[in-house]
Amino acid sequence: MELPPALRDAVNRVLEGVPAEDLARAAAVLSQRYRAETRDGRYHVSSDLAASAYLATRLPATFAAVRAAMEFVTEVQPKFSPKSMLDVGAGPGTALWAASDCWPDISTATMVEGSAAMRNWGETLAREAGVAEIVWQGGNAAAELSKFAPHDLVTLAYVLSELSTDAQDALVAKLWALTTDTLLIVEPGTPAGWLRILRARDALIRAGANIVAPCPHASACPLTSPDWCHFARRVSRSRIHRLAKGAEVPWEDEKYIYVAVSRHAVEAPQARVIAPPQQASGQVMLKLCQSDGGYMDRRVTRREGDTYKSARRLAWGDAVR
Ligand SMILES: C[S@@+](CC[C@H](N)C(=O)[O-])C[C@H]1O[C@@H](n2cnc3c(N)ncnc32)[C@H](O)[C@@H]1O
Repeated sequence: MELPPALRDAVNRVLEGVPAEDLARAAAVLSQRYRAETRDGRYHVSSDLAASAYLATRLPATFAAVRAAMEFVTEVQPKFSPKSMLDVGAGPGTALWAASDCWPDISTATMVEGSAAMRNWGETLAREAGVAEIVWQGGNAAAELSKFAPHDLVTLAYVLSELSTDAQDALVAKLWALTTDTLLIVEPGTPAGWLRILRARDALIRAGANIVAPCPHASACPLTSPDWCHFARRVSRSRIHRLAKGAEVPWEDEKYIYVAVSRHAVEAPQARVIAPPQQASGQVMLKLCQSDGGYMDRRVTRREGDTYKSARRLAWGDAVR
C-alpha cells in the first residue's frame, strides 16, 4: 500500500534536510521502545527528531494497517458514511488521512495527541488533508476527552500498548461513550496486541456494542495461544524510509490486528479468512473464523465449481459472504 500522494509529498517536505544518519539513530531508539513496550511515563516521541523518525518509518505502516481495517469496515457496513471523527493518540494524523481517504464525506475531525512534537507534525500535514474543520487537542486523553461531544467515527490506532491495563479499560469505555456509530481500534499484530484487542472487544460486547469486523460473531475468540489473530498489509518503503531503517528491500509487511464495533445491528459475514490462503493445484486451503463462533481449516477443491472460483480470489482478512 502507498500513502496518498498529498500525504507522501507533505511528509517528504517535512523530512527534507533532516540528515539520514540522525533519522536512522532516532528510528532505532523508537523501534526499541516500541518493541519493548516501554512504559516509563514519557511519550515515545518527545522531540522533533523522534517525530520525524516516526514519519519516515512508522507512519507508512500504521497508515496501511488503519486504512486496510477501514476497508474491511466498509465491506460490512457499506452505508456507513461518517461526517465527523474523533481520533485519540492521533500522532501525526495517520487515522485522519486514512479515514478521509476511505470516507470522503468526513468534514470535521477532533484529534487528541499528548506529544507536542507529534501534534506539531500532525497539524502541519493535516493542512493538506482536505478536511474542512480540524481541532487538535493536547494533553492526556484520559483528562481531555470529557470536553468533547460524540462523533460518528472514533478511532484509536496503535495507542493501547502505551497505556496500563486500567488506563486501557477506562479509555475504551470513554471512547465507546463518545461513539455515535462506529469505533475502530487498531493494534500491532503481535500476540500482545491481539490480547489487548480481545480485552477491549470483550468490554465493548458487554457494553452492548455490535461487532463489525474482523470477527463474524460475538462469541469468545476461538483461537488460543500460541496462535493469535492478525492480518498483514504490504507497505512500500520510500527512499528515506529505507535509509532511516538501513534497509534495502523496497517494502515491508505490517502485521496488525483490529476490532470495529457499531451502535447499529450488523449483518455479519459467514466467515473471515484469518491466515494467508494456501493455493495448490486444484485446491485452496482456507483458515476461516466462522459465524458460529468456531474456526476451521477448509479445503476447497476444483470439484466445488463456483465455490472454488470464489475461494481462489479470497485474500487474508477477507469476509466470506
Ligand atoms: C504509536 S503512536 C500512534 C499514532 C497514530 N495513531 C498512528 O497510528 O500512527 C501513539 C500515539 O499516542 C499518543 N498517546 C499515548 N498515550 C496518550 C495519552 N494518554 N493521551 C494522549 N496521547 C497519547 C502518543 O504520544 C503517540 O503519538
